[in-house]
Amino acid sequence: MNTILFSHARTALKFGLLSSIEKKNSYILVPDYICEVVPNTILLNNYKLIYYRINDDFTPDWQDLNEKINKNISAVMMVHYFGIRQNVNKFFDFAKKNKILLIEDNAHSLINWNDKNTYFDFSISSPRKNLNLFSGGSLTIDNLKYDINKLIKYPLNKKQIISTFHKKKFDKFKIFIKKNFYKRPKYEINFDEEEMITDYLIDDYSYKVLNNSNLKKIKNLKIKKFNYWNEFALKNNLKPIFSNLSDDETCPWCCPVYSNSKEETIYWYKWGWKKGIFVFSWPNLIPSLLKDNKINKRRERLICFSTN
Ligand SMILES: Cc1ncc(COP(=O)(O)O)c(C=O)c1O
Repeated sequence: MNTILFSHARTALKFGLLSSIEKKNSYILVPDYICEVVPNTILLNNYKLIYYRINDDFTPDWQDLNEKINKNISAVMMVHYFGIRQNVNKFFDFAKKNKILLIEDNAHSLINWNDKNTYFDFSISSPRKNLNLFSGGSLTIDNLKYDINKLIKYPLNKKQIISTFHKKKFDKFKIFIKKNFYKRPKYEINFDEEEMITDYLIDDYSYKVLNNSNLKKIKNLKIKKFNYWNEFALKNNLKPIFSNLSDDETCPWCCPVYSNSKEETIYWYKWGWKKGIFVFSWPNLIPSLLKDNKINKRRERLICFSTN
């Protein structure tokens, strides 16, 4: 398998789909708790989708998945939510039994930290999220059918170029300015849809940072932070979703927990903003999914503590 570095995981998904599924109008099974850019990328590239149910603990509803299978389905997408691994073998068996492709969405974790991951037909990842890069979305695939040399590198804007000279410096000052002069983003509200992104490769600066990063060290630090937030949640009447991590094959993008109400969730967003700690919601859902009461209620109670 080869890994290609684009600017975003959505671009990786696009080229993965176009290289693997030629059949027009074929359907992809996608979980119903997912960032809007995933269904939008699938639909924009002329594929169709069918949602399968995700439980509150972020495992798939296997009965629902089995009921959704039909002859027009070409692939199933498995998402390692927050960087925590799904039951990979079960997904593999499901895809094999139904003679469909298995797409791995590893956007919340780090790229290629385990070479054994060859159970999928293609895998995408978004290292820009875990490493705070300007760009970076990988595609791991056997046979890319596109000439990526035609693509240009993600262009940095002036502000980004300037910040490459003092990244990490002035962090405390930036937090001070942010909390005193900026308004807290309203994470409790589903944001407007993101603008479309052109197809780019990763920019040189982000490529260098990614290559020079000690991924193992970062992963271990993130596991420690994840476990810290899990303990913090228990002490503060919040409900951890996953148990503490020790797994070598995990790299958590954040630590998700449930609150008891929408109001309590907003309290923690405000708490994070005041303290300069990144506390946020996930995901930005496409409006049709938000109409589902169960999904909407889950989003209202989900709080993400950053592990970056
Ligand atoms: C599960 C999942 N997959 C894919 C993506 C797309 O990643 P990117 O923003 O790098 O395109 C996201 C983004 O938010 C995501 O949460």
